[in-house]
Amino acid sequence: MKQLSLFEEDQPPYNRRIVNVASVPQLSPFRYPGGKTWLVPEIRKWLSSKKTRPSELIEPFAGGGIVSLTVANEQLADHVTMIELDPDVAAVWHTIFSNDAEWLAEMILDFELTIDNVQATLALTAESVRDHAFQTILRNRTNHGGILAPGSGVLKHGENGKGIASRWYADTLAKRIRRLFTLRERITFIEGDGMIHLNETLCRGDVVYFIDPPYTAPGKRAGRRLYSYSEIDHDNLFSLCKMAEGDFMMTYDDNESVCDMAKQRGFHIERVPMKNTHHAKMFELLIFTGFSRPEYPVTSGHQAA
Ligand SMILES: C[S@@+](CC[C@H](N)C(=O)[O-])C[C@H]1O[C@@H](n2cnc3c(N)ncnc32)[C@H](O)[C@@H]1O
Repeated sequence: MKQLSLFEEDQPPYNRRIVNVASVPQLSPFRYPGGKTWLVPEIRKWLSSKKTRPSELIEPFAGGGIVSLTVANEQLADHVTMIELDPDVAAVWHTIFSNDAEWLAEMILDFELTIDNVQATLALTAESVRDHAFQTILRNRTNHGGILAPGSGVLKHGENGKGIASRWYADTLAKRIRRLFTLRERITFIEGDGMIHLNETLCRGDVVYFIDPPYTAPGKRAGRRLYSYSEIDHDNLFSLCKMAEGDFMMTYDDNESVCDMAKQRGFHIERVPMKNTHHAKMFELLIFTGFSRPEYPVTSGHQAA
């Protein structure tokens, strides 16, 4: 493992540019809570600053997968591996990277989005992975904040008075799915535990990891409400990262316990100023090792369209 530096910023730099997340090409069909569209410019800089292109980017907590998809689309690594534990989310990735992708795109295009149709479709028992995928996309695009965890409600007012349909862009979703299908040779999707996969690849110096776990570290429990699978052993995750031969970039909510775990391992921490969906300024942590950091911008908006 390369030499680590510890660098804490008490104050963010003040000259950061606001990046419009709308300028980042959206590839994911999900609206994902905690989605990392805002970090895409950073990921590009990180990977393109490497002397050689990484043979693999591994994303152990893939969720909506915007980083993995962008890396595959822009060929910033030879290959991409996405891992996700949630079977609802996994059904979507299995389908998109299979010959059922076109079926899914057509289902979305043909669906007449009314509250009754949504409720009737979601009440059915999915008989196949692709049915499960369609139900997940439907739920994701019609629930508040794209939240799939139990307890999340359906959009009633939505945007511009469009109610439940306010996030259902059928043409756009079908286009994204068809585009992703063309990238299938560059992406491996694994339904499973990202911690196990991380553990199994520790000795590989040719891979890089983008790690965006559910935010459930002590003191930060938001992840419980947002994701169906949110409990992970954060301390163990940090220990695995310490042992990894490959470079990593981790993101976390700004929190003392997270900083402590990073400091204990001598990781580099940066507090990234950004604006949340309510335009309040907040910070996220970027934790990493082994590479120099270019200046990066203030970003706005958390969520993919
Ligand atoms: C913060 S979200 C990732 C968001 C993602 N970076 C994006 O841009 O959409 C964390 C994800 O980790 C998943 N997850 C939780 N525990 C996991 C585990 N042990 N292995 C793999 N995925 C897990 C959750 O279901 C959730 O989708």
